Amino acid sequence: MKIIIDTDPGQDDALTILLALASPEIDLLGVTTVSGNVGVEQATINALKTVELAGRSDVPIHAGADRPLLRAPVNATHVHGRTGFEGADLPAPAVKPNPEHAVDFLIRTVMAHEPGAITVCAIGPMTNLALALSREPALRSRLGRIVTMSGAFSEVGNITPCAEFNIYVDPHAAAIVLESGVPITMLPLDVTHTLHTSAARLARIRAIPNRVGPVVADWLAFEKRFEATKYGTDGGPLHDPNTVLWLLRPDLYRGREVNVRVETGSELTMGMTVVDWWQITDLPRNVLFLRHCEVEAAYEVIIDRLGRL
Ligand code: BDR
Ligand code: CA
Repeated sequence: MKIIIDTDPGQDDALTILLALASPEIDLLGVTTVSGNVGVEQATINALKTVELAGRSDVPIHAGADRPLLRAPVNATHVHGRTGFEGADLPAPAVKPNPEHAVDFLIRTVMAHEPGAITVCAIGPMTNLALALSREPALRSRLGRIVTMSGAFSEVGNITPCAEFNIYVDPHAAAIVLESGVPITMLPLDVTHTLHTSAARLARIRAIPNRVGPVVADWLAFEKRFEATKYGTDGGPLHDPNTVLWLLRPDLYRGREVNVRVETGSELTMGMTVVDWWQITDLPRNVLFLRHCEVEAAYEVIIDRLGRL
């Protein structure tokens, strides 16, 4: 399957890119970057470092939006560190980003393929996707699917009491994407908070006999320092890799087709995902909203795939 990853790396974003590159089922056409965990310049450097780590500098990296559509930028350096890659930094990339803007790349690539051929994994704020959908409305019928790590139902929020980070940073963009009519799969905090990066799991990742294993273990150990103490679990949540894991093994996830909307009007609940789990409304079911993952099996896939790099 042909995919584009739209991202703000971030350690868990980098692992997502690595999993895609390690999977023969996936053809990663390019990576687009956006302001989120860190600013877009740093996110672009981190994406370049990631493909280089996998020996895949041929995958084009396209820098995108440097701020949300309407609101001021918010970052997550309190989770990911100043560079977004704290835990294991990597050498400065030898390759430069592709000069084409992320939004142009998204439009050009999707329009050059058959309708439905391309899936976008959206693992940062959805600014680039919203801009692309607004500029080229034909994307609504050309994009195959958007698989996004974002939102929450019962786990509610991780950047405010009500909102998940990727939606909170650019709620207006998320609203445009959710209303676009493109098929959407959402991996919310309800799933990602169950994939604990426990000491035992990190030890197995560290023992993978290539140069990727120890780097990923160091990255996740850094994120865990913040997250585990917060949630009182053995390990932090694992967020973004669930998108690629769902593409590879949808049988490991369970959820429902439901209506999901985003709060953009209230400062108190800004970016909250309003999930019509019990079908209170007859609004269109725009999202496959996943709430359960077979965690042990998911980690087996991660360890197997990283071992192939
Ligand atoms: C999301 O926010 C970021 O910090 C992570 O990379 C993930 O995309 C989790 O809320
Ligand atoms: Ca991310």
